[in-house]
Amino acid sequence: MRLKIKPENSIEWIALLFNLAPKPLIDTQVSFNAARAIMAAADLGIFEALGKTPKTIEQIINTTNTHLLATKNLLNCLVAMNYVIWNKDNYALNKKYYKWLLKEYPSNVIGKLQFQISEWNWMANLENFIKTGKSMNLHAIMSKEEWEKYQNGMRDLSINAAKELALKINIPKNATKMLDIGGSHGMYSIELCKRNELLTSTILELSNAIDRASAIAAQQNLTNRVKYKTGNALTDDLGDQEYDLIMINNVVHHFTLEENKILAHKIAKALKPGGIYAIGEFIRLQKPGEGGVVAATSGLYFALTSSSGTWSLEEIKSWQVAAGLKCVKPITLLTMPGWKVSIAYK
Ligand SMILES: C[S@@+](CC[C@H](N)C(=O)[O-])C[C@H]1O[C@@H](n2cnc3c(N)ncnc32)[C@H](O)[C@@H]1O
Repeated sequence: MRLKIKPENSIEWIALLFNLAPKPLIDTQVSFNAARAIMAAADLGIFEALGKTPKTIEQIINTTNTHLLATKNLLNCLVAMNYVIWNKDNYALNKKYYKWLLKEYPSNVIGKLQFQISEWNWMANLENFIKTGKSMNLHAIMSKEEWEKYQNGMRDLSINAAKELALKINIPKNATKMLDIGGSHGMYSIELCKRNELLTSTILELSNAIDRASAIAAQQNLTNRVKYKTGNALTDDLGDQEYDLIMINNVVHHFTLEENKILAHKIAKALKPGGIYAIGEFIRLQKPGEGGVVAATSGLYFALTSSSGTWSLEEIKSWQVAAGLKCVKPITLLTMPGWKVSIAYK
């Protein structure tokens, strides 16, 4: 998936056709102004204030407690982007964004948009990273507030994917125990437990994540079957023939090659015979340019913020195979473009 510049009139169409418009500036300044406008509106509660009925600017700022002219500027920008519709001095949220931007919808991504303000600041270290190769090791430096926003953001990113994955992953009917490594908010565990009535899950998480992550999971009323355990997958013993399913989503991009290889062996040992090791990740393709702007840009972001980065499907499968597991066809999700789940059986 990629972003595309779309002409809005015939002059722009000609300018783009004959390569007269400065595309690098449109790709950057227009994109970052637009991105930040959406993030600011999410953070300041503008979308929530708009709700589902048209509002005057005065009604909006009454709720958001923001400056009239500045808020008008922001709203006009959102109108140009078609997030908001302007009609007879009223602003209304475009209906197609209700499910993404109104908190009454479980699919809303407001928490992720707020977390992106931190991610935006981290990306400002990119030039330094490229010069020195020194990554930030986020999990070691985040503040308490950032840890909370991180967990909220990951919930938003996974809520739809978790439902789709629970439908598509084929786990044995009599499966009773799963381990969700770095499972954070618990959405993957919760959706799987909802679909498999005998299943219980242990979410293994770093101590800084536990408070907020478990509070998010508790909202789903499944705390009797989804429990948290503080620990570190890299250093903890994961047991012997204990689990029917071990899942690790969006975590192996934080680990080095060596760490992922060792982890796969520990996981193979911790699986019951016939058990599944599932690794969900944004997939880096084999050769540069083979595809995916989503995977390539997230790979850059993960390399900057962790010590590692995205992996190719072949690399991921090679850890599973080297640990004695048998890989089958990976799962692709419509709700998470650029992401795949590599499935291997013991
Ligand atoms: C990017 S989030 C992914 C959360 C969730 N699995 C998802 O896909 O939405 C990575 C999570 O892994 C956790 N994590 C990172 N290193 C870990 C480790 N060594 N052991 C256990 N959890 C870890 C982090 O605390 C964080 O919550």
